[in-house]
Amino acid sequence: MHYFNYKRGELFAEEVKVKDIAKKVPTPFYLYSKNTLIRHIRAFKSAFKEINPIICFALKSNSNFEILKILRNEGFGADCVSLFEMKKAIEAGFHPEKIVFNGNGKTEEELEFAIKLGILMINADNEEELELIDKICKKLKKRIKVSLRVNPEIDPKTHPHIATSLRESKFGFDLKKAFSIYRNASRFKFLELKGVHIHIGSQITDISPFKEALTKVFDFTTKLRKYGIRFEYFNAGGGLGIVYKKEIPPNLKEYAKVIMSYSRKIADKLILEPGRVIVGNAGILITKILYIKKSSCKKFIVVDAGMHGLLRPALYGAYHEVRLVSSRQKAESREKFDIVGPICESGDVLAKERFLPGNIKSGDLLAIFSAGAYGYVMSSNYNLRPLPAEVIVDGNRFKLIRRAQNYRDLRRLEVD
Ligand code: LLP
Repeated sequence: MHYFNYKRGELFAEEVKVKDIAKKVPTPFYLYSKNTLIRHIRAFKSAFKEINPIICFALKSNSNFEILKILRNEGFGADCVSLFEMKKAIEAGFHPEKIVFNGNGKTEEELEFAIKLGILMINADNEEELELIDKICKKLKKRIKVSLRVNPEIDPKTHPHIATSLRESKFGFDLKKAFSIYRNASRFKFLELKGVHIHIGSQITDISPFKEALTKVFDFTTKLRKYGIRFEYFNAGGGLGIVYKKEIPPNLKEYAKVIMSYSRKIADKLILEPGRVIVGNAGILITKILYIKKSSCKKFIVVDAGMHGLLRPALYGAYHEVRLVSSRQKAESREKFDIVGPICESGDVLAKERFLPGNIKSGDLLAIFSAGAYGYVMSSNYNLRPLPAEVIVDGNRFKLIRRAQNYRDLRRLEVD
């Protein structure tokens, strides 16, 4: 559920006409709804309230400072995957004890920062990393809690680029290896191997892969118990899908019920790392039509956003709903268009074969839905185009929360 709705043919973000925002902020820009975000945050918390987990928002999905402050105020923690994500989480007020550090290529500098900061936990991805963490802790005379990210080797039934638990995946320890590491944990003198972590993939719309993975982790931890090894933390990762088109993802209560039923048996405390399900449908991308173009076999709508502003369609063939901000026409007069960006790449297609009113024209605004997660964060300066602005609406007010880049911003880093 979100608060981007049409009233008499005009798109509103909460109580603000999107058209009015576009009079003040040049397109393309990301537009977030604060109350949608809060609604998602609270629904997520409430689904798990029985066991009060530590919910670490995945910053990689959206790391706008204003959005982070909202999440922190709602009691969320942070799932970070880089030095700057950790720095930003701290600056946004997240308590170090609610920060987890993930990733398969953490540098020594990043690990040292995390350990000095005293974060809740590092989710380790390979054996050499464990040795490095141990060495840094020894040097700093500190201890740190560590979970092994294990690969349950199941098919999460999502796009191959965002599946992270197939046997051939680069992420995590296979269960056999993890088993021997937990059994010989004492060789890491400064690590508290207190947790186990999984993240099986993203945009998962079926509950069965979660169940399958949880069953495997449960069996794994049961075997370890026989050796007196018990876990304090179970981190179930993120991955719950959202509606882009007509998917029917598990609802939050169903998802929470499944996770909680296993997590109780696996460890004392649950950690979660949701990203997309929190921000995905709380943001849209507003773009302006530059040209309508008819070729011998196709009609194109050329817009000022493209793969540099929203990469998902070009990278994964992802579907995002596209609608006119001011819709005036009846459905009968619709025509088929490809909606393309200005980047010099044939793959710069935002949406394929969409039906939009035949009298659509340059200057009209389009809204690209479900763009709040993995939208701005994946944008680039390709073709020397600036990163877009970001705006948030709260009730009947809106404010700029990041300006678009200008030419100076792009030149500034270069050394003549
Ligand atoms: N935890 C870990 C360890 C992760 O790698 C991820 C996402 C999450 C949590 C959050 O997952 P979520 O709840 O958002 O599914 N760029 C892709 C998605 C990549 C996801 C990467 N990892 C996309 O645009 O679909």
